Parts: sequence; C-alpha cells; structure tokens
Amino acid sequence: MDTLIQFAYVVSGALFIFGLKQLGSPATARRGNMISSLGMLLAVVSALLDQGIVEYQWIVVGVLVGAIIGGAAARMVQMTAMPEMVALFNGSGGMASLLVGWAALNTDAATFTLVTIILSILIGGVTFTGSLVAYGKLSEKIGSGAVLFSGQQVVNSLIVLGILAGSVMFCLEPANHLWLYLVIVLSLIFGVMAVIPIGGADMPVVISLLNSYSGLAACAAGFAVNNNILIVAGALVGASGIILTQIMCKAMNRSLSNVLFSGFGSGKTETTAVEGEIKPISVEDAYYVLEAASTVAIIPGYGMAVAQAQHVVKELSVLLEANGAEVNFGIHPVAGRMPGHMNVLLAEADVPYDQLLEMDEINPRMEGVDVAIVIGANDVVNPAARENEGSPIYGMPVINVDQARTVFVLKRSMASGFAGIENPLFYKDNTRMLFGDAKESIGGLVREFS
Ligand code: TAP
Repeated sequence: MDTLIQFAYVVSGALFIFGLKQLGSPATARRGNMISSLGMLLAVVSALLDQGIVEYQWIVVGVLVGAIIGGAAARMVQMTAMPEMVALFNGSGGMASLLVGWAALNTDAATFTLVTIILSILIGGVTFTGSLVAYGKLSEKIGSGAVLFSGQQVVNSLIVLGILAGSVMFCLEPANHLWLYLVIVLSLIFGVMAVIPIGGADMPVVISLLNSYSGLAACAAGFAVNNNILIVAGALVGASGIILTQIMCKAMNRSLSNVLFSGFGSGKTETTAVEGEIKPISVEDAYYVLEAASTVAIIPGYGMAVAQAQHVVKELSVLLEANGAEVNFGIHPVAGRMPGHMNVLLAEADVPYDQLLEMDEINPRMEGVDVAIVIGANDVVNPAARENEGSPIYGMPVINVDQARTVFVLKRSMASGFAGIENPLFYKDNTRMLFGDAKESIGGLVREFS
C-alpha cells in the first residue's frame, strides 16, 4: 500500500508540473488548470489513505464545507475581484500550514522536525494576517493607503527579533509551550505590520509574494508531517509565486524592495510637463477614420475591465476585419490589475489567441499600424517611460502606440492611471481622445459600422 501511495504522489507531482507548464499560455491554460486539479485530487485521496485514519466523518464534513465555500466563491466572484479571492485563498493556505505545524508538535521530535514545525507556523502566520490585510486593502474594506508611522522600522525589527528568539527557544525547550504561543502571536502581528506600509495599488505584487510564502509554509508543513507531496506542492507554489512576483516587478521596472518599502501608489503624484493640446473626437468621426484603416491595433487596459467592454471590443474587431482591416491586440504584461488580466477578459469574449500579440511582438509593427485604439489603458502606453528620465515610470517597457499613424484613446476623463502621473500621449499630434465609458464608446462604433 505504501509503495502505491508513494507512486500516486509521484504521479500527482508530475501532474502539477505539467499543469503549471500548460498554464503558461492562454491556449492551454484551462487544460493546465484541470490537470493540476486532478493532481490535487489524487494527492488528497492518497494522503487520506496514507495516514492510517481511524474515522472519516469529520474529514467528510470538512471536505464538503470547504468544497461548498470554494465552489460558491469561485462562481460568484467578479473577474475584477479575482486578486481579492486569491488573497483569501493564500491566507487560508497560510492558516492551514500553521495549524498542521502546530498539530504535528510532539515534544520528542528531532530538532529538524521542530525547525520545520516552527517554520510552518511562522510563515503560515505571516501569510495569514498579511493576506487578510492585502484583501482588506484591495477590496477597500480598510483604507488602501500606505500606513506609515515614526519608529515603524524599530517596532518591526523588535518583532523580528522576538520571533527569532522565540523560535530558537522553542527548538531548545519544545515542552514549554509559551515559546510556541509567542511565535504564533508575533508572526500574526508581523503579517499585518509587513503589509500595512504598502499602498493598495501594489497589492497584486504583494499577493503574488504572499502566494509564494503560502507555498513555503506548506512545504515546511510537509517536512513537519513527513508528507512528500505536500513538500513538492509547497515548493512548486513557492517557486512559481516568486517567479511571478519577479515578472510583475520587471514589467513595472521596479525592484521588489521598491514595491515593499517605498509606499508607491499611495497617492503620491508626479507632474510631467506636457506640451500640445487635447483633441477630442466624436464616435462618428472616429468611425470614418477606422472605416478607412487597413491595420488596426487594439491596446486594452484596466479601463476595459472596469467597463466590462471585452464583448463589444470583440464585436468591433470582427466588424473591422469584415471591412478588410488586419486587427491585432497588443497585450502588456501588467495591463490591468492582475497577471494575465487582459488575456482572461479577451478569452472570455472568444477573441482568437493568435490575435493576441505580446508587447515585444506588437512594438516592432507599430509604425505600420493605421489606427491604434487604446481602451482604458494609460500607464502601459505612456511614452514618458521612454522619453522622460524624471518620470517615476522611466525605463518601464511600454507599448509604443504613439508610433502608429493615428491613436484613439478611450477613457472617461483626463484622470491619471495607477501610477498617478501625466501621460504626454494624450497631447500628441496624432492622438484623438474619445471620451466616455469604453463600453459605450465602442458600442457607438459598432452601431456606426452595423
Ligand atoms: P491604468 O494606468 O490604471 O489606467 C486605466 C485607465 O482606464 C484610467 O486612466 C481610467 O481613466 C480608464 N478607465 C477607467 N474606467 C474606465 C471606463 N469605464 N471606461 C473607459 N476608461 C476607463 O491601466 P493600465 O494602462 O492597464 O496599467 C496598469 C497599471 O497597473 C500599471 O501602472 C501597472 O504597473 C499597474 N499594476 C498592474 C499589475 C498587473 S499584474 N496587471 C499589478 C500591479 C500594478 P478615466 O478615469 O479617465 O476613465
């Protein structure tokens, strides 16, 4: 039986890795998700057979309650609230690791096991409260601004010292539960302290990092209870979370420490001197320009998600193609508010994957584009990132829509985007502003075409 269970663990590990690989492309992502879920089912069933469990009734109750809550939450969540749900899932993962570590406590345990127990409790605790604060900030249930106070560094350093001292004492005197309780309480407090100084707008990066922590906590819990698949799954989550965090930081041209410690996006604004004037355009006039275009690039951003305009955008792209134009979508890696945000929305509207071009693919073609339609994107098309060394986003790779012959920018006002900075694109000679809600503006264009 044991050999069979270990074999099932190897198969689940392989399914996780294969599933993760498939999650790397929109075309295979759904299948990747199914394959990973299957791996998890196999892992859970095998683990239940593994432990010589005497009574299953509470396990069945737990599985049912968890499945109902998880299933209902996943069905009901709005696409724009997905990062909030991921935050809650990470937090639950952290709490689960804390409890598993705690339950595995056995005063006769070897020092290595004690170290893994305290690690799963400590990382799990930080992940739990850190994720709850991240959730609160993202959903604006608590203030999303960065909370900074004098002496914050000193307080944080004291907490870390307390955690370190408590952990060492726990390993030396496992029978004295006071050390354990001290580490639990301090890690829960540290989770809050680590996330409050970060502005709400940086929460997606923090959530990705906390996701990585929840994996590390699970990995430590796997060592504590001596379960191989928990170690493997935890390590995979830990590694993929940190890779995703790196990708997001790179796409914003910021370091992780800048995200964690700078309070960026907490209401600080920077003004870039802009030249030129705003040239608004009506839906009718925009239609005449589009009607004559033979290459069109659509660049979606956060505003398309807010307006839920993806379906009308797809309708417009079909009409443009029927009119003889070549239509592509330019996808910036951090457009929107979560990784793959635009891909998910466009997939929901059935836009063919081969029409989605990554930034590096679309940029060299931009000079040959007749009309670039920017739909609720702002920072990711801001030429200041290329041209203005003083800009906070200088060096961030952007989609060079300003190199197209004509640019339409669809947004409601002159308000800035996530980074809170001016966008000189709006003032360029070849730019026309189509003001209004993106769904209504595109709907108007669709009506003109029809
Ligand atoms: P943003 O720069 O945030 O700009 C979005 C624009 O959409 C706003 O200027 C807004 O202007 C417009 N908008 C909002 N609602 C609209 C509606 N209903 N109809 C039309 N327009 C609407 O978005 P972006 O260009 O996608 O850039 C994303 C930003 O988020 C980047 O700075 C990125 O670094 C940051 N970020 C992204 C991620 C990930 S992983 N995607 C993670 C962390 C941070 P109006 O208010 O005038 O309409």
